[in-house]
Amino acid sequence: MTRILPLTTQSGSDIDALLDAAFGTDRRSRTAYLIREPMHWLPELSYAVVDHRGALAGTLQSWPVALRTGDGASAPLVMVGPVAVRPDDQKNGMGRLMMDALVRDARKLACPPLMMIGDPEYYGRFWGFSAQGTREWRAPGPVEARRLLALVVDGSTLPREGMLGPRVLSKA
Ligand SMILES: CC(C)(COP(=O)(O)OP(=O)(O)OC[C@H]1O[C@@H](n2cnc3c(N)ncnc32)[C@H](O)[C@@H]1OP(=O)(O)O)[C@@H](O)C(=O)NCCC(=O)NCCS
Repeated sequence: MTRILPLTTQSGSDIDALLDAAFGTDRRSRTAYLIREPMHWLPELSYAVVDHRGALAGTLQSWPVALRTGDGASAPLVMVGPVAVRPDDQKNGMGRLMMDALVRDARKLACPPLMMIGDPEYYGRFWGFSAQGTREWRAPGPVEARRLLALVVDGSTLPREGMLGPRVLSKA
């Protein structure tokens, strides 16, 4: 039986091995990595799927990022991804299981808007992610405009323009 668990239950080396299998070992040069570096993923919004043997079969990580606008303001966002399922287990519902949990928990926690770089045919179809509100967002590397997606989960509105980057937490 497959089970969904908090990602904190899994080792870093198992997570890395799965991501290498799903995206290739050159994955760290992707724009998504540049946006969220050097943040750590959010434990309350990151998930694992394990198979009947307890082996890691899917991972989803979320990160604290922000959109810095021209006037110096910073709008918090939650970056979703990578979402990855072990190649042999793809299209068996594991991606949907993790994304359903994420969107449900993000709504429950009234999180800042979710954003991701992903296929609108998947993330739009099942959860309503859209590139409509991100047209004037910029990233520190190349990104296809149709794949820069967002979803509001707290009833707020999306920031209109700015540069994506890590969320710098203010010191108390
Ligand atoms: C994309 C991914 C996370 C989806 O998870 P999954 O467990 O394989 O897919 P699910 O079982 O949840 O969903 C299956 C349905 O979504 C569709 N689907 C899956 N991936 C899709 C994609 N990239 N684009 C469009 N549709 C997709 C399937 O065709 C299927 O549709 P159907 O029910 O009409 O047959 C997974 O395939 C994966 O890890 N891919 C490689 C890494 C990747 O590209 N990650 C996404 C970028 S962050």
